[in-house]
Amino acid sequence: METDGWLQVSPRCGQKRNRSLAESEKSMVINKEKNFEDLNVENLKSEDVSTLWHHLMRHTGSAPVIMARGDGLRLWDIEGREYLDATSGGVWCVNLGYGRRELALEIYQQLLTMPYYVGSAGNIPAIKFANKITGYTPNLTRIYYSNSGSEANEKAIKMVRLKSFIEKRPDRNVILYRDRDYHGTTYGALSCSGQAERTSGFGPLLEGFQSIPHALCYRCAFGQSYPGCDLQCARAVEETILDLGPEKVAGGIFEPVTAGGGIIVPVREYYQILTETFKKYSLSLIIDEVVCGLGRTGTMFAYQKYQLAPDLVTMAKGLASSYMPISVTAATEQLFAALQTGEGNLGYFRDISTFGGSAAAAAAALENLNIIERENLLENVVRSGEYLLEGLRDNLDHPNVGDVRGLGLLAGVEFVEDKKTRAPLSEEKVIKVAATMAAKGVLVGRTNRSLPGYNTIINFAPAYVVTGDELDIILRTFKETIWQVL
Ligand SMILES: Cc1ncc(COP(=O)(O)O)c(C=O)c1O
Repeated sequence: METDGWLQVSPRCGQKRNRSLAESEKSMVINKEKNFEDLNVENLKSEDVSTLWHHLMRHTGSAPVIMARGDGLRLWDIEGREYLDATSGGVWCVNLGYGRRELALEIYQQLLTMPYYVGSAGNIPAIKFANKITGYTPNLTRIYYSNSGSEANEKAIKMVRLKSFIEKRPDRNVILYRDRDYHGTTYGALSCSGQAERTSGFGPLLEGFQSIPHALCYRCAFGQSYPGCDLQCARAVEETILDLGPEKVAGGIFEPVTAGGGIIVPVREYYQILTETFKKYSLSLIIDEVVCGLGRTGTMFAYQKYQLAPDLVTMAKGLASSYMPISVTAATEQLFAALQTGEGNLGYFRDISTFGGSAAAAAAALENLNIIERENLLENVVRSGEYLLEGLRDNLDHPNVGDVRGLGLLAGVEFVEDKKTRAPLSEEKVIKVAATMAAKGVLVGRTNRSLPGYNTIINFAPAYVVTGDELDIILRTFKETIWQVL
């Protein structure tokens, strides 16, 4: 009998059933590369222009880049141009890089075995992944699956509010969120996102959310300098709670390290003060690890760097390195138990996410985590992250480089017109830096129509498998470009 890892137990009849792929089938899967030679490039471009409604983009009548193939950090577009992707898929999510066959094969195998069944039932990879990931989140023992970061955050907000309802305090429903943080595109998640350009025109947003100041020292909301500032940004949280009335506030949602809002790594004391305030008013702490989770900042979760004890943690992008869409809302046992009880409550969390039942997506998350462990990738994130940050700091002598910040393989450079006044550089010039780098074959990210007047940050988030040579290319291209175009 084969025992090469392709053998599964049939859950239905309890008998061993050989789910092995035939050798010919395996080699078909392994060797099948899409053949791009017969592509009609011009047709594809014109069909793109006439049919696709792209994300985040003004449509000008010409096709954007059309990507076709990837391997490691390398990408090729349909015209055969090669790029080095320093963004992990544009939005920090293809964390293991492109072309991971073992990941693709796990998904394929699970699709054949059983792709899906509704999440009110269990499935094997969902159970296995939940067991494995909770080994990294000691206080968070319950795993709720859905399929996007926005959705994971919606679940967290609903859980916190349901808790207030069960406690017969339904008016205790306000969720605090931080200026510059982003939590998603759906209305609940957007209503607690502190980036004005993301919400503009979509009103009315939902009630029951309140912003608090951001934690970016370089642009302190109080005009102070760390460490002489007495952490006014963190202390302002209590003032907001008192202004609203503590009986109205249920909790808060935070990116541990702000990503899209400009790579903001709060100082350690920030979270110490925040945590004390949350304890004082018994607030639920939701940590949005949609970007940082699964290793991006060098620990499995960024909240662990700050030694936080959240009630809820959300994960998405890097959860399966975007080989499949999947997200998780992880909760404490206390919160889970609280939502199973209560007069007027159904006795459970009455919620569903159809695709949260995707067994193939859970298989992808499981293998993603296995690979991170097997290849000891967090070590590379730490080592490469330090190298990247150091290399970016080398550019602080450039007249337009105002600030360089980051943690792990998540880094950003903020551009200014004037270093003394910190007046922001024009967004057109920042766009030009990114566009010139792309033309040289290196893809970087940038804050994009999020923060009025301050979309001036170029982002770097290469895959965890990045090599020293690749980092050198990224750093060299960046340096060369800023001296060339600014
Ligand atoms: C921190 C954070 N939370 C939530 C989201 C929303 O995730 P999704 O786009 O998967 O809904 C994002 C997306 O960029 C994010 O950066």
